[in-house]
Amino acid sequence: MLLRDAQGQPIAIRREDYSAPAYWIDTVELTFDLDPAKTRVLNRMRLRRNPEVAPEPLRLDGDELNLARVLVDGQGASFRMEADQLVIDNLPDAFELEIFTTCCPIKNTKLMGLFVSEDTFFTQCEAEGFRRITYFLDRPDVMASYTVTLRATKAAYPVLLSNGNLVEQGDLPEGRHFAKWVDPFRKPSYLFALVAGKLVAREQQIKARNGREHLLQVYVRAGDLDKTEHAMNSLINSVLWDEARFGLPLDLDRFMIVATSDFNMGAMENKGLNIFNTKYVLANQATATDADYGNIESVVGHEYFHNWSGDRVTCRDWFQLSLKEGLTVFRDQEFSQDLCAEPSARAVKRIEDVRVLRTAQFPEDAGPMAHPVRPDSYIEISNFYTVTIYEKGAEVVRMMQTLVGRKGFERGITLYFERHDGQAVTCDDFAQAIADANPDTELARLLPQFKRWYSQAGTPRLAAHGVYDAASRSYTLSFVQSCAPTPGQATKEPFVIPVNLGLLGADGRELPVQLEGEAEATQGTRTLVLTRAGEQYTFVGLDAEPVPSILRGFSAPVILDYDYGDAQLLTLLANDPDPFNRWEAGQRLALRAALRAIAEPGVAGEQPLGEAFIDAMRSVLRHPQLDAAFKELVLTLPSETYIAEQLDVVDPQRVHAVREAMRAQLASALFADWEQAYEQNHDTGAYTPDPVSSGRRALAGIALLHLCLAARASGDVVWPGKTLQRFKDAGNMTDRFNALNALVASGHALAAPALARFHQIFKDEALVIDKWFSLQAGAPDRGGDILPLVKQLMKHPDFSIKNPNRARSVIFSYCSGNPAALHRPDAAGYVFWSDRVIELDAINPQVAARLARALDRWSKLAEPYRSAAREAIARVAARPDLSKDTLEVVTRALS
Ligand code: ARG
Ligand code: ZN
Repeated sequence: MLLRDAQGQPIAIRREDYSAPAYWIDTVELTFDLDPAKTRVLNRMRLRRNPEVAPEPLRLDGDELNLARVLVDGQGASFRMEADQLVIDNLPDAFELEIFTTCCPIKNTKLMGLFVSEDTFFTQCEAEGFRRITYFLDRPDVMASYTVTLRATKAAYPVLLSNGNLVEQGDLPEGRHFAKWVDPFRKPSYLFALVAGKLVAREQQIKARNGREHLLQVYVRAGDLDKTEHAMNSLINSVLWDEARFGLPLDLDRFMIVATSDFNMGAMENKGLNIFNTKYVLANQATATDADYGNIESVVGHEYFHNWSGDRVTCRDWFQLSLKEGLTVFRDQEFSQDLCAEPSARAVKRIEDVRVLRTAQFPEDAGPMAHPVRPDSYIEISNFYTVTIYEKGAEVVRMMQTLVGRKGFERGITLYFERHDGQAVTCDDFAQAIADANPDTELARLLPQFKRWYSQAGTPRLAAHGVYDAASRSYTLSFVQSCAPTPGQATKEPFVIPVNLGLLGADGRELPVQLEGEAEATQGTRTLVLTRAGEQYTFVGLDAEPVPSILRGFSAPVILDYDYGDAQLLTLLANDPDPFNRWEAGQRLALRAALRAIAEPGVAGEQPLGEAFIDAMRSVLRHPQLDAAFKELVLTLPSETYIAEQLDVVDPQRVHAVREAMRAQLASALFADWEQAYEQNHDTGAYTPDPVSSGRRALAGIALLHLCLAARASGDVVWPGKTLQRFKDAGNMTDRFNALNALVASGHALAAPALARFHQIFKDEALVIDKWFSLQAGAPDRGGDILPLVKQLMKHPDFSIKNPNRARSVIFSYCSGNPAALHRPDAAGYVFWSDRVIELDAINPQVAARLARALDRWSKLAEPYRSAAREAIARVAARPDLSKDTLEVVTRALS
């Protein structure tokens, strides 16, 4: 498989070209002599020909390796190199292959394969990093048993870890030592891991339901042990939850998590040895916010749940990535919800998840990188670790659960693991198992059509329209679904869309639901399963026109267009028993006001919000029963990115100005209400990151922000002063950071001394310094001041472009998180972006390609932004020697 064509252009890998491997690898024995400058890797494998495939030479993948020796059955063998592959002809049916290579971990700035971070060795092998460690059949359907011996200087690398069980360790001459690990499970190469360095561990012995004992360990650098309690608790909860909810036990004696501060992604599910970005491990109340605590819980859960959905059953090929990622995101979302004692906290988590989907995945699905949940082709697989594969993939799994019910879904999961344990399978296999376990359901009946969610890209639009007929006391809802073309897919077939629906009276009470022809009405939510381009439902027994609550809980990843009247939305906002749609009604009202003000510059743009909306927000803020967390979500306006998605032509400055005007209006009109909300919620007592107290901190935080915004307009000095005091006195990072954010976001003069103090306090806490950088690079732009600030920040002694977290905290916070500051009329933001993409591409292509996506939506921009953005992308695309990663992104952006 050559990756470049005759012109040197990368060749796309296509799903339809899949063929089984010509050889299987049964066992792998790896011996590492770890040295930062030159690590020696001895790889002894037992291979055999796959009898189901026509004979072929053996082609092993490699990348940036120095090859020293190849032996077949102990004899020097002849081989040739074809591009990066090592090719051997004329092999027997079964044989032992020994390969000796060296590599240079200290120079590995791509952070794929074996690399060094703060004097510690780590690996990252998914998707194609193992080939940077040794020559191998580096594809997920080749599963082998691994035995790994690590050797290194004992003083520098006292801890030596790999997958599975430690079977032997001891000292060697010259101050060296070794450790030998055996993984009891066969696995694909992307799940291999090793760690070597000076680390300490928090340990916990736990006993599973079946009585089996397990050792859980969280490894960090010596100074960070006091920040591992939450990760450990999250891990214990994960083990208990997977057993209780899905009957999936921990299958290892020992389960390890190790944190590194240099990591391209969030974390990695290597069998028994998860490697994490420190951001998703380390937390104490002084350094981490409630959001950090929540993210740690879900990422620890996510990687742990991969132990079944990913490791025990893996992907046949990388087109099936969502098989493990969509399912595992669904599982971690369910885990976080199930840990909430209150139903309202579950709803808050659901709203947060949907917000991510709509602000990140919907734009992806409408842009040049749009791809199906199961893509048909890629140039660089790293580019497909996307919100579509992960979050939309999770929504597809969630719809299956909606169609078969929670119990039915659990039966489906059980069948899936019974059928496929130890195998590398496809998305079709998964859907088939869920359907087969639930033969009498809509999912089973509609399976081929349902699977269009895997094959068709793009976000479907669902246009709904309701007509009430007083004479027959009936209400007819009609639906028309459509889906815009996406790259390579001009037309789409209808999707199976489960629509959860309820009906409310004008007084806000939930009405019984009875479809024409049904003998009886039912109470509460109904699931309608849409399958055709157009569908109609007639509801009977209605004395007046109902207010429809459509797509409750966001039952499908679609855009719902319904021409609600303002009064109907206010009814839903005040009364819908479904918290998701209650929140959604407020978002629709705010969005409507924003779009109106964007369309009509002038007076309307300065006071975009009407009185009814402001009154409704006041009622929510003062509501005696609603939880603080829910209030905070309702009072948060739709993001600039989300507003921009609703427009055909986007002027980012206009979007920003209108949203800022809306915030200013909410700040002053609700001043007394914000004061009250702050007073009632700011004292949450001894810190715990539970949903109730974190919700109160969130509400106090947004209140403080609006009080400072109001002060900006009125010249009041009291609230900024109080905010600074709170910043100084705060007993936890959430309160402290919210206060700092209020000063920075309102552009108050006290922001500067507060930022200086913050840096001083936390100068030795890398993750907190990331927050310090990110807050500044993401701050509201006032007269073009952010870009010069960002350039200044890049010269700060704490800045390093090689550390992905730090690069993200400055460059991504600006380019991807601060649209009004990036999209400058003078195009300087785009020039900065292109310079950074080019600079990063030479260091770390994965990080560069992520940054390259910041201009995905360039073609929607108004002039002069549109032409200038295109020119910047073309400038990147014209560079010689661009990585496949970045080349794929910019080429698609321009096509
Ligand atoms: N499987 C990991 C996770 O979702 C992500 C690994 C991503 N690796 C990469 N090179 N893109 O937990
Ligand atoms: Zn994952």
